[in-house]
Order: sequence, then structure tokens, then C-alpha cells
Amino acid sequence: MPDPMPPFHRIEELPPLAGQAVATRGWVATTRSSGKIAFVVLRDGTGYLQAVLSKKDVPDAAWAAFGRLTQEMSLEVTGTVRSDARAPGGVELTASDLRIIGPSPDFPISPKEHGTAFLFEHRHLWLRSRRQVAIARVRHEVIQAIRDFFYERHFVLVDTPILTGAIGEAAGNLFATEYFDLGTAYLAQTGQLYVEAAAAALGKVYCFGPTFRAEKSKTRRHLTEFWMVEPEVAWNDSDANMRLQEDFVAYIVARCLERRKGELAELERDVKPLEAVRTPFPRISYTDAVAQLKALGDDIEWGRDLGGDAETLLAKQYDRPVMVFNYPRAVKAFYMKENPADPRTVLNNDMLAPEGYGEIIGGSQREDDYDKLLHRIREEKLPEEAYSWYLDLRKYGTFVHAGFGLGVERTVAWICGIPHIREAIAFPRTLYKLWP
Ligand code: 4AD
Ligand code: MG
Repeated sequence: MPDPMPPFHRIEELPPLAGQAVATRGWVATTRSSGKIAFVVLRDGTGYLQAVLSKKDVPDAAWAAFGRLTQEMSLEVTGTVRSDARAPGGVELTASDLRIIGPSPDFPISPKEHGTAFLFEHRHLWLRSRRQVAIARVRHEVIQAIRDFFYERHFVLVDTPILTGAIGEAAGNLFATEYFDLGTAYLAQTGQLYVEAAAAALGKVYCFGPTFRAEKSKTRRHLTEFWMVEPEVAWNDSDANMRLQEDFVAYIVARCLERRKGELAELERDVKPLEAVRTPFPRISYTDAVAQLKALGDDIEWGRDLGGDAETLLAKQYDRPVMVFNYPRAVKAFYMKENPADPRTVLNNDMLAPEGYGEIIGGSQREDDYDKLLHRIREEKLPEEAYSWYLDLRKYGTFVHAGFGLGVERTVAWICGIPHIREAIAFPRTLYKLWP
């Protein structure tokens, strides 16, 4: 390969260059030929481009190279950009030369159907497919929308540790590792405890990073490593927390509808249900949700957490995400604020996505009373010493505050309309998946 590489264009840059001579690089998607005319469809991650070669107009070496093309070979094609209304992106390339860069013998993923297990074993190659590229771009948009939303509203990003000394959510699903002479470190289940400290320093904050749960569950909603964004706001109560959530989710969905039409079309996503995602979102108390579920034939009893099926059934009753608030204290995390109007419950809420995607947000107002929080830590048999710094936040200028966590993969799966969250992240980690 000559060095330095001569200039070339990405496929997405070509439409305004009609009539000009350009070089472009990419990978072979498909080829076909009829006699003295040959076609190669090239992809480069920014788009697809059909290059047309006619035997009489290209060097013999280029014509011969065309004959050797196989799926996913990398190559450079030179030619003239030509407008063609029927072409994706509106342009084609009339090739003047073609050069193979890297061979690709027997690419494992052919255009025929493959099973899910096979595709996940070849995830590193499967990522190149049209659908996977579309999902990656929707995910990218969701993440950019998240960052923009908080930036526009003057939240400060605070990065929280991944190696932690205290359990953030529940003891049952921790990844633990030995940490020098300091005992056990846990991979963070949440950054929440740390953003609570940061909220007292900065007012409105959020953290955004990978979180870890040693989930033995094999559902289509669970990963062992997933990305969570967690805002925390000083002086927000549970009601304000829910308003922030609905503004946030409506913003993310609107951004994808506005800027990722092409990708959603590639995924054959029906955008009607997404267009309905406007504020205000319906709210229902846990107690009313139980009554409604019973009326719908579910066998839930007051006091139990809502299972995946109950969530789906309940969410089906609404055309946009629904917020279920004030769950029983016993089924929720230790840090949630006791509901003064009914101490059996806490001031929390989950947000359930429509179309069967389940819980995308868990949030709450936090217990700001030192004694009550200490009591809960003891009740849950959590090691008190590990929470002394967390209790300090209630000792030095305690403050009403609330926040929530939105799971990125569940949100992306919902917006893309894909059945399983495994496809919503490039390299998913589950009970069965550590490779590639
Ligand atoms: O409801 P969760 O467990 O809440 C928390 O971790 C709080 N500390 C958040 C906060 O208040 N700052 O998790 C929040 C969200 C869920 O609603 C879900 O979207 C996602 O994180 N989530 C998972 N996503 C994929 N795989 C898993 N195993 C998940 N567990 C939770
Ligand atoms: Mg939850």
C-alpha cells in the first residue's frame, strides 16, 4: 500500500460531488455482472455505493480484479460520481479503476439466513451488516441526545468509580474481585451513591457509564454489563423527578425520530408508537397498578414486585411510557425515601416502556433522614462501615434530592423495535457470553 495514502471520500460525502472524479474505499457487499458491464456494491459504514465498471473503460487489471471479488473484500474504487435518483444516497460511481486492498476468503456470514447463536459467535463480523450498523447509529444518537439534554439543562457530568467498596443496589448480583490489602472490591451496580454526594457539591449532576450485575437471568431484558445514565438533582422531590424523566425520554425519542429516520426505516421500525411518546406520560400508583392488573386477570398480590409479564400487561394499557410510583418498601432498595403518607411504601417510580419493553427507568427520592437511613442499612444487613461516607451526606446539610437511572440498551432496543437487548450493544455480556 502506498504511503502516505492518497485522498479519498467516504460514501456519505459523495452526493454533492456529482460530476467529479473521486476515490472511495470500503468493503464488497455484493457483485453482479452482465457481459461487459459489472456492478459492485461497496459499503463503508457511512453508506452504500454502487460502482459500475465497463470493460472497455477500465484497465485490464481492474476488470480482472472484479472477477476475483468476494464478499467483504476491502478495496478502493476510483471513478466519476453520477447522479441517479434510484440509487441509495442518490449517486452511483462510474468506475475508472478498482484495486483490491485485502482479500476475504469465505466470509462466514453470507446473505442467507443464519441462527442467532452463529451470528453472536461472529459478532465481530456481524456488526458490518445493515441492521447492526443501523442499530449502532441509533444507539449513538440516543447517547448524544442524553448528553445534549443534560448539557442544555446545566447538569454537570461526574464520572463515578467502577471499582467500589459498597453495594449500590442489592447484594444478590454483585461481581466481586480481590483488591490488594483492602479486601473485596465490587464492580459498580450503579453510580448513584456517588452522584448523591456530587449533587450536594454541584446541584444538578449525572453520571454515565457501564454498570455490572451478576444476573443469572436469561431474559431478553438482562445483560451483565450495561450502560446506565443517572441524573441526581438537589431539591427535586419524587414528583419533580418524574417530570424530569418524562421530559428526558420524550427528548431522546424525538431526537431519534428527527435524525435517524433512515436507520429506523432500515430496521422496519413502525414509528407510529414512537410518535405518540409525548409528555405528559401517564402515572399510576403501585397500589392502583395492582388493582388494575388483578382486573386484567394477573395473579399479583399487593406487596410483591411487578414481574416482567405484569409490567408488559400493564404497559399495554397505555400508548406511551407509564410511570408506576410508590412501591412497597420491602421490594425496593434501602436508599429510597419512606412515603410519609404510607410508610409501607417509598417515594419511588419505575418507567415502563410500551410495546412490551418493560422497565427502562428506576428512580426515587432518596432517604434524607440520618436515622431512618441507618435503620434501613441495618435492616438490610449491609456493612455499616462501608456506608459511613454515604450517611455523612445526611449528617452535613441533609437535603431533599432525587434521581433515576435509565438503561441505555433497553431504551435502544425499544426505539429500534428489536426483540432482544443483546443486539443493542456492540459486544454484549450475558450469563453465556464473554467472547468475542
Ligand atoms: O432500577 P435500577 O436497578 O436502578 C438503579 O440502579 C438506581 N441506582 C438508579 C438511580 O436511581 N440512580 O436500574 C435502572 C435501569 C433499569 O430501569 C433498566 O433500564 C436498567 O437500568 N437495567 C438493566 N439493563 C440491562 N440489564 C440489566 N441487568 C439491568 N438492570 C437494570
Ligand atoms: Mg429497577
